[in-house]
Amino acid sequence: MRIAIGADHGGWALKAPIVAALQAAGHTVLDLGAYALNPADDYPDFAQAVAEAVRRGQAERGIVVCGSGVGAGIVANKLPGIRAGVCHDTYSAHQGVEHDDMNVLCLGARVIGSELALELVRAFVGAKFSGEERHRRRLAKIAALENAAREKQP
Ligand code: RB5
Repeated sequence: MRIAIGADHGGWALKAPIVAALQAAGHTVLDLGAYALNPADDYPDFAQAVAEAVRRGQAERGIVVCGSGVGAGIVANKLPGIRAGVCHDTYSAHQGVEHDDMNVLCLGARVIGSELALELVRAFVGAKFSGEERHRRRLAKIAALENAAREKQP
């Protein structure tokens, strides 16, 4: 699978281990930065880059790491077609894909350690959308909300 990843300074510590684990598992990683630890960098830049890569089809899934995962999730969900979730338990990391077709996983490096992060990434990447009618129906409602919000824009 092609996976885009990004992290600000708050998520920096987890990015390298996640990239290494994904590559070792045979995935292609699109690393969208940061490329150096910079305490002055801003999570919206990396979350936007990852979300855009997923939206454009350059990656099938995205992973964004910040301090809590929250800021990354807020930003990623601003882009139409992005379904991002902060998941710090493995059930949510796979169920979010199976039911909600979550395409961006957000993690907080100040909340979880590297071993749990790698388990979460494995659960996320290994999961597939079930395609069940009830889940498609709910996703259609989300898409309708996005379309309505776009039409209301001045
Ligand atoms: C950066 O200090 C921190 O605010 C950011 O990584 C993130 O936690 C935002 O949600």
